[in-house]
Amino acid sequence: MSKPINDRKVAIIGCGFVGSSSAFALMQGGLFSEIVLVDVDRNRAEGEALDISHGMPFAHPCKIYAGDYNDIDDAAIIVITAGANQKPGETRLDLVQKNVAIFKTIIPQISERNYQGIILVVSNPVDILTYVTLKLSGMPATRVLGSGTVLDSARFKYILGEHLSVDPRNVHARIVGEHGDSEVAVWSTANISGIPIHDFCELRGHYDHEAAMKRIAEDVKNSAYEIIEKKHATYYGIAMTVKRICEAIARDEKTIIPVSNYQNGEYGLDDVVLSMPAIVGRGGVEYKVPAPFNAQELAQLHESAKTMKEVIETLDL
Ligand code: NAI
Ligand code: 2OP
Repeated sequence: MSKPINDRKVAIIGCGFVGSSSAFALMQGGLFSEIVLVDVDRNRAEGEALDISHGMPFAHPCKIYAGDYNDIDDAAIIVITAGANQKPGETRLDLVQKNVAIFKTIIPQISERNYQGIILVVSNPVDILTYVTLKLSGMPATRVLGSGTVLDSARFKYILGEHLSVDPRNVHARIVGEHGDSEVAVWSTANISGIPIHDFCELRGHYDHEAAMKRIAEDVKNSAYEIIEKKHATYYGIAMTVKRICEAIARDEKTIIPVSNYQNGEYGLDDVVLSMPAIVGRGGVEYKVPAPFNAQELAQLHESAKTMKEVIETLDL
């Protein structure tokens, strides 16, 4: 038996930097009337719930409390941010064994309750852990997604906005593939409010496209390394990303964002989870949008998928 889903309830498993910042962003967003925090360190979850609750008189009424798996099996969305984060010099893929072991303790507790909502994976390496969640839970691929390159795409928009002195919300450009070192910047369709990117760059006095593209894509890719080097963790950008994805689901927005989702046949990819644009709404990944790529981008995408598959093959699932 499964409990009916409460559309106004969200749960967060893992209440460290990312989980607590996401809860804080969600509380301010007013999307949900219940936020349940779960952590192996119960005191941590209780402390975060209290601290965030004290901001409520300045935001929206909402019940925020520490709970366990019996409190979350009716949540519309379960966000998983539990697990180790990168230390300076570590890649996301270096976390895989530690965090797969943690997921093996978390996912069965969700699936044994026949959970009918949506799982949003955030822990790293996010594409691999979304794949692991899908396989361990047996849930339909539409209801298991990862935050993927929604964050990287936000970084891309922000950096391009700064470069061109334009509102990042007018920048239409995305990163696809792995949320990590093999990610792919999709320049071929990038535009600023409908104006092709190179034309807009020239309107703003930038003519050395090759050098700028290389530098900007590198800056996006290395954003997290720079932040981790300086402050040991990233959490505000991802918190806003979690809030944005939860909005798309809770409000049934049918918004197109590059969440991490299961690819099996699309673009010649098979049995792998990567970020590709999809329509996201109440049903989760409702439709995989066939994005156009040039030959170079497609080749990079296949390289990214190959990296993911090599890691998946090392896992005992
Ligand atoms: P953190 O160390 O501050 O927090 C991790 C939390 O998980 C701790 O409170 C810990 O007690 C909890 N935890 C560990 N095992 C658990 C279990 N079995 N059940 C419930 N809770 C458990 O780490 P931080 O900085 O919050 O990062 C969390 C994860 O998010 C990392 O894997 C990090 O790489 C990832 N991350 C992902 C991003 C993305 O864009 N996808 C962005 C930033 C971080
Ligand atoms: C980020 O990109 C580390 O995945 C994390 O901020």
